[in-house]
Amino acid sequence: MPSAALAGATAPPRTAAEVAPPEHRPYAGLVSDTPDVHLNLNVRGMANSATVSINERSNALLAQGRDIVKLGLGQSPFPVPAPVVRALQANAHQKDYLPVRGLPALRKAVADYHRRGDGIDREGDDVIIGPGSKELMFLLQLVFYGDLVIPTPSWVSYAPQARIIGRQVRLLPTRAEDDWRLLPEGLEALCREDPGRPRIVILNYPSNPTGGTYTVDELQELAAVARKHRVVLLSDEIYGELHHTGQHVSIARFYPEGTIVSSGLSKWCGAGGWRLGTFMFPRQMHWLLAAMASVASETFTSTCAPVQYAAVEAFVGNPELDEYLVRSRRVLRAIGRYVAQRLRAAGIACQDPAGGFYLFPSFHAHRDRLRARGIDTSPEMVARLLDETGVAVLPGTDFGRPPGELTCRLAYVDFDGDMALSHATAGANLNEAALRRLSPRIVNALDRIGEWARMEPARLTAVSG
Ligand SMILES: Cc1ncc(COP(=O)(O)O)c(C=O)c1O
Repeated sequence: MPSAALAGATAPPRTAAEVAPPEHRPYAGLVSDTPDVHLNLNVRGMANSATVSINERSNALLAQGRDIVKLGLGQSPFPVPAPVVRALQANAHQKDYLPVRGLPALRKAVADYHRRGDGIDREGDDVIIGPGSKELMFLLQLVFYGDLVIPTPSWVSYAPQARIIGRQVRLLPTRAEDDWRLLPEGLEALCREDPGRPRIVILNYPSNPTGGTYTVDELQELAAVARKHRVVLLSDEIYGELHHTGQHVSIARFYPEGTIVSSGLSKWCGAGGWRLGTFMFPRQMHWLLAAMASVASETFTSTCAPVQYAAVEAFVGNPELDEYLVRSRRVLRAIGRYVAQRLRAAGIACQDPAGGFYLFPSFHAHRDRLRARGIDTSPEMVARLLDETGVAVLPGTDFGRPPGELTCRLAYVDFDGDMALSHATAGANLNEAALRRLSPRIVNALDRIGEWARMEPARLTAVSG
């Protein structure tokens, strides 16, 4: 006779209704037939983040044997620099929980790094380390009571985070004619509507999704408006080190008392999957840091210990890391400018990037041709582009833009970063011939995009038929 436990283990799974009658099922809804009713209203109907979804869809098509060029997910193409990998290996034995705000040596290294690179005078005490800057942004929004102001186009996760928490989001649209930059007048007008209202304004540059940045004058003007209205500025500078000519300037220089600087290992150190982000606060805002640390202590406890030890190496820096960065920038600048120029040649509007690895092209000049093919919106456009050419990009709607604008975000990262770095020596000529060798998939995607955009409806029927 089998034991009851064994019998249970081999029996087919039963529904909640079979397990007990409803009156004996106090948690019935949690295993239930109508699970939606028990979801927090703020997350009901929410899908996976747009970038994760495009990656999954591209992988599914790849698994079907399709040739897919992945320009959707924005992940660094470069390997983690060797000294940082060695530091992680050497610290694999670090097993203890670390202080909730982060390893003291790392907090100091981050403050020193910002002092060296950005001229911002901060101490280790001003820094908090988290499992990705994304998580720190979520905590900040959770503990701060006020609106979130997001210039659009903007990174995909700011607004959904605010929605999860139940914060009011104010989108501040920018214009292609202004290279998608937030203008001081726009910020001023928004702050004037309700002058006393507490707000966090997010500024992200070099920008995901546009690749654009700000001049020193523009930063000073924005800082003056922020100071006048006493807004909290969250300056997302995670692509700062990837300014293509190494000339990133932090707005914290011009509004030190009101700016939180967000950064991390994910982009410039190619270590997105290591999950380490940093926030640096002015002294005046330690109340926010302390509240974030309290919530962190009740949720993630502390960031992965070996990764924090390895990150000390990254933030302290050394000549090998400097060279890695110089070469990364060289490669990104050459590919980014080449892609932008090829898109423009195909009648697709696109500014040259100043940093990072993204572009935000607009197909508006092809509007009539696309409409004749049944494409009126950016989600329709990118879905058809993927199906008909195998090129994966994200629609402008995911970045807060109107559907009819026909914009998309293209991440020019589908190339062998290791090989590209080894070629990008000082004086290397990264001309078109070199880029065809170093990033053949991207060049091929550009051929496909250009041809697809110009296709007439009749030709398309012939091709797909
Ligand atoms: C603009 C921007 N901010 C923040 C992040 C989050 O980075 P992480 O959580 O890896 O630090 C990303 C990642 O894609 C990003 O593009």
